[in-house]
Amino acid sequence: MLDIKNVHKTFNKGTINEKKALNGVNLHLNPGDFVTIIGGNGAGKSTTLNMIAGVYPIDQGTITLDGKDISDLPEYKRAYMLGRVFQDPMRGTAAGMEIQENMAMANRRGKHRGLSWGITRKEKQEFKEKLSVLGLGLEDRMTSKVGLLSGGQRQALTLLMATLRKPSLLLLDEHTAALDPKTAKKVLDITEKIVARDQLTTLMVTHNMKDAIHIGNRLIMMNEGKVIYDVRGEEKKNLKVADLLKKFEEVSGEDFANDRMLLS
Ligand SMILES: Nc1ncnc2c1ncn2[C@@H]1O[C@H](COP(=O)(O)OP(=O)(O)OP(=O)(O)O)[C@@H](O)[C@H]1O
Ligand SMILES: [Mg+2]
Repeated sequence: MLDIKNVHKTFNKGTINEKKALNGVNLHLNPGDFVTIIGGNGAGKSTTLNMIAGVYPIDQGTITLDGKDISDLPEYKRAYMLGRVFQDPMRGTAAGMEIQENMAMANRRGKHRGLSWGITRKEKQEFKEKLSVLGLGLEDRMTSKVGLLSGGQRQALTLLMATLRKPSLLLLDEHTAALDPKTAKKVLDITEKIVARDQLTTLMVTHNMKDAIHIGNRLIMMNEGKVIYDVRGEEKKNLKVADLLKKFEEVSGEDFANDRMLLS
């Protein structure tokens, strides 16, 4: 599945702004693993996801996906294998386009045929069915412009688009952090539903320790560019937030500092 071996990344090397973001990340995922990632500000969580997606070149180490070494593959070539949802609801969809047009773009990812041929009846039917799974009534608004949707509706749509063509790996980077608690819960429920239904291998960064414990089958904690704790199955389910904080303090010798966690 995904195999990350000894990945290092330093930003702005040799300058006054030099920053070691990843300091030997190792992570092996099994097919169907749903891993939550926690860690303090600047721990390297987003950078890890960015390295998998090929946003920046890696300094050292290898990333293998589905048995293929993708370490040197450009971002656009990895995009076909990955689904991504970011924190910002504005980022994953095109505001000026209709819901169904956004979905058609996602559906035709990596194909030569663009939107110029129009959306077929068969596609419309498929999109309608997929949208109804969200339980947000978007299936009746397929020709609405995405810019009219709320942040939560937009994140749910982005998630749907990211998983329309079953990705080898789904990357979620605090994708509910910008939503109000009720909407965040809804989008998380949808996430769990889609991941379970399609048996997607998933990495989900969250600042919410409770969500990290209750969602998925495995949890990892990062600190200073490394994975410092990796727990799964029953042991994970039985964790308490206090256990995680204690674990963090034990391994790192400092208090857990994550602004979004503290604010929520
Ligand atoms: N493009 C970049 N250029 C320079 N430095 C960067 C870049 N991206 C990340 N960094 C730095 O690398 C370190 C790790 O950042 P990263 O975004 O991975 O942290 P994070 O664990 O996602 O934190 P947060 O919880 O705040 O989102 C930080 O010190 C950050 O400032
Ligand atoms: Mg981050």
